[in-house]
Amino acid sequence: MAVLASRGLTKGEADGEQWLAAQNRGLRCWEWQSLGSRVMEGWDSPLVDLFFSNQYLQITTTVPSTSVYGFGEHEHPSFKHSMDFVTYGMFSRDQAPTSFANLYGVHPFYMCVEADSNAHGVLLLNSNAQDVTLSPNPSLTFRTIGGILDFYVFLGPTPENVIQQYTEAIGRPHMPAYWSLGFHLSRWGYGSIDVLKKTVDRMHYYDIPYDVQHLDIDYMERHLDFTYDKVNYAGLPEYLQQLKKEGMHNVVILDPFITKDEEPGTYRPYDLGEEMGVWVNNSDGITPAVGKAWPPGDSVFPDYTNPRTVEWWTQMCLEFKDVLDYDGIWIDMNEPSNFLRGQYPGCAVNDINNPPYVPSISDRSLAQKTLCPDSKTYLGEHYNTHSLFGWSQTAPTFHVAQQATGKRAFVLSRSTFVGSGKHGGHWLGDNFSQWKDMHQSIIGILEFNLFGIPYIGADICGFNYNTTYELCLRWMQLGSFYPFSRNHNAEGNASLVIMVSTNQSFSLIGTRPSSVRRRVCQDISRYASDQILTAAILIHLVLRVSRSRKHGGAVTDARGHKLPSSWNKNYATVAAPLSKIPLFIRGGYILPEQAPATTTTKSRLNPFGLIIALDEQGEASGSLFWDDGDSIDTIEKENYFLAKYTYSKGNLKTEILKNGYRGADTLKYNKITVLGLKLRPHAIALNGRAIRGDAFSYDLSGVRVVLSNYEKP
Ligand code: GLC
Repeated sequence: MAVLASRGLTKGEADGEQWLAAQNRGLRCWEWQSLGSRVMEGWDSPLVDLFFSNQYLQITTTVPSTSVYGFGEHEHPSFKHSMDFVTYGMFSRDQAPTSFANLYGVHPFYMCVEADSNAHGVLLLNSNAQDVTLSPNPSLTFRTIGGILDFYVFLGPTPENVIQQYTEAIGRPHMPAYWSLGFHLSRWGYGSIDVLKKTVDRMHYYDIPYDVQHLDIDYMERHLDFTYDKVNYAGLPEYLQQLKKEGMHNVVILDPFITKDEEPGTYRPYDLGEEMGVWVNNSDGITPAVGKAWPPGDSVFPDYTNPRTVEWWTQMCLEFKDVLDYDGIWIDMNEPSNFLRGQYPGCAVNDINNPPYVPSISDRSLAQKTLCPDSKTYLGEHYNTHSLFGWSQTAPTFHVAQQATGKRAFVLSRSTFVGSGKHGGHWLGDNFSQWKDMHQSIIGILEFNLFGIPYIGADICGFNYNTTYELCLRWMQLGSFYPFSRNHNAEGNASLVIMVSTNQSFSLIGTRPSSVRRRVCQDISRYASDQILTAAILIHLVLRVSRSRKHGGAVTDARGHKLPSSWNKNYATVAAPLSKIPLFIRGGYILPEQAPATTTTKSRLNPFGLIIALDEQGEASGSLFWDDGDSIDTIEKENYFLAKYTYSKGNLKTEILKNGYRGADTLKYNKITVLGLKLRPHAIALNGRAIRGDAFSYDLSGVRVVLSNYEKP
């Protein structure tokens, strides 16, 4: 069957919950829906290729080109897939990134760029264990072991349109708090408040821009959720208050397993949860499934698809806010992870636990490192809902974080599913301190942009293994462009802060305006081996040990260094010493900038500047969105400032499109840099009045003029 544009989805119609309900309708064999209107050739599924049985559904379709991107979560060797009979399994799993393994989240979504550069996207909305084979015909074969074949087609025609249509259907990404675009530091195993304090002090001593401190499981008393270690972390509540007063923010980890083996009456999270009946159950639907995880004794698992569990979780998180004054919540291990193969006493032998076909997933096991498929959740059998565990935990955590802080929520989730971006961000999990992993992170980050989760990062410098000086330095350079920029590593590995003492590149963290991050998250259009190209910016990365410290690049140099004479050609060699990130602005764009400070709380108060990078016609445009950075729903409430800048024929014009944020009244510009001028300007005027000559300067090449610290005439 060829796909033609059919019915369009209405805005918000397919929000997560409704999609899930659609999954469970189960009456139809399959459904096609599309968003966008054009005829798309080449998506053809002859019915002879359809298998439809109780625990095995398979459909093959041709695709119009071999430019296929997406499907997750995996470690893919390239952003554009190989179509050489490659198979990827999808089933959420606690699994460090490894080639071809099914990782933490599930995203059965891909984008295909057709021969004429039009693009479309396709979602198979199905939460069962599944796999997809990409073949050279070119074609795709989808196999799932339950649910329905529920396909949604997004017709673009540009890649940006596809993602706009996809996120319109699954839920637009949440607006992150401004502070969360700053630099985050984390480590599993500080072990004590003294080490934590020394770490923070060392960051401050070196003036390293740093907004957020994360607390991993060692802050807890014996790894028990909703507690803190009153011996090793004595004084933690007061210390967090102090950091907050200094303009920093903090994030605490919570795991989705609760020990059942504390003395009755001594551990409220278990006692209350037990009373409310909030756990995932065994196949009898009555007795809680018991497994083993970090806390002492054995653990039960909250079933977040149950509204009672949401009530319990909300209550626990609100009470905990009075203990530790957190700004954000990091929800980990929510695949869900269990250190056994199924819960005690092991999985029964039946068709649910042993389906006739197990998709191409690690260990070819649905129970390895998690619960038995025949366990019962409120929404249905774990067989069907397993990969929704993290997704079902994300929205309630978002809502309670908002309620507890009264501010924009920060939720970082390890397991994600279609629509998770509406309530949370993600990091790429337990990567390794290797050059390969650093490179791989770029692919992962671009893919999560496709999946509608643009608040995404990877553990900078690597989580497992000890990192090295040069790798860590280059990774800090790359990581300063991750939308979620966090340096984190595993217990027992060298502390990254030791590297800081000699690592001068940390000063680079502050050179990146937050707007750069937003742009990186918004634009996934192109990526070539070691360059990231957004609409306005090209970042040239050094992804290997480098001897020559020279790398290819192009366009206009953002830091105003002398431009290569061949700047408008395709290729130029630029210096990339250890202390430098080659960063270029595409002619035609205007970017607001702000001087860095050690926190975004402080840098937000600095005056703005504008970098105007002219195109061949001497024109450029750009915009600035500015709000208070952490209030809820500023766009909906119109509490923001929006300005549009256009530069043409030697004139810069500012139009204020929205003036709804009072904080913008004190907004000042003290520096305007114009790059790419063909002639030296003779005079500069502001609103028609000349500016004194000593308020602006040219650089020697005559292509750059900087107007700074001028007094209003
Ligand atoms: C998991 C997380 C990792 C964390 C560790 C201890 O491995 O992925 O980030 O540090 O658990 O909580």
